[in-house]
Amino acid sequence: MYVESLRGRDFLSILDCSRVELESLIKLSFEFKRRYYSGEKIIPILQNKILALIFEKPSTRTRVSLQVAIQQLGGHSLYLSSAELQLARGEPIKDTARVLDRYVDGVAARVYRHESLIELANYSQKPVINALSDREHPLQALADVMTMIEVKKNLKNLKIAFVGDGRDNVVHSLMLAIATLGGKLYIATPKGYDPEISLLKKAYERASESGAEIVIVRDAVEAVDNADVVYTDVWVSMGQESERERRLKDLSAYQVNAELVRYAKKDFIFMHCLPAHRGEEVTDEVIESPNSVVWIQAENRLHTAKAVLASILR
Ligand code: CP
Ligand code: NVA
Repeated sequence: MYVESLRGRDFLSILDCSRVELESLIKLSFEFKRRYYSGEKIIPILQNKILALIFEKPSTRTRVSLQVAIQQLGGHSLYLSSAELQLARGEPIKDTARVLDRYVDGVAARVYRHESLIELANYSQKPVINALSDREHPLQALADVMTMIEVKKNLKNLKIAFVGDGRDNVVHSLMLAIATLGGKLYIATPKGYDPEISLLKKAYERASESGAEIVIVRDAVEAVDNADVVYTDVWVSMGQESERERRLKDLSAYQVNAELVRYAKKDFIFMHCLPAHRGEEVTDEVIESPNSVVWIQAENRLHTAKAVLASILR
């Protein structure tokens, strides 16, 4: 039932998983969700396992879902703000990695630079999980895909519109997940905000095998027209605060508001990884509308976190 092939492996990118592994993780997440509501006795599959969370940036969902997930599976977690580690005083990541390796069974890290994750993984024998970097947010993409399947049943028939910053960590992972699993993803983004080219190339490669379509457009209406899913994320990600003015200006035509979603299918769903900035990338009206599934999406972070931890740390 667990995804055996992932045992002991790092999870830094959606690209670390094959189509079969992603499908199995999603299936397992649904099983964890079913058990969560059935009141069945929890199998302490991660008893005595300890996960360290090294976070360079704030987090609500990722931190809490990982900590609750491991606890509900019988294990323990240590939340380590990087500001309180010797990392803050200049101890190199490679030294931190080799020390933690001797205490814990795995590390989940949220970092400014994706390269820090790679260094952590290179010097750790134990698995390292990406809890968000400037490049990707693979744990989020799993919950996103699970939510689309849960609400819309079949991913392959969906037209998904992502409207906003196309170089965003969340859309990078979503793009790679859709490219691997199938579906149509339109990314509406201004010039200069296209997804990172190396990831876009990988997405096209995977899409050619899965039959997925990944399309970059400049016009938000073209993306949202007849869409089943409308997704957005913040215009100013953590670490980009100094670019705030320029980003707000460049992305102003990409707000998800009532006028834009009129072009989507009547039963479209609105998605956002959260936290949301109402009045910037989305209006209060849209996020609070009956089409919004953001709370189900947030909940699914817990079930997908369990699938990942159970498979990797066992
Ligand atoms: N979506 C998400 O990762 O939220 P947090 O920053 O609260 O973890
Ligand atoms: N793109 C956002 C996602 C937050 C979960 C950020 O990096 O701040």
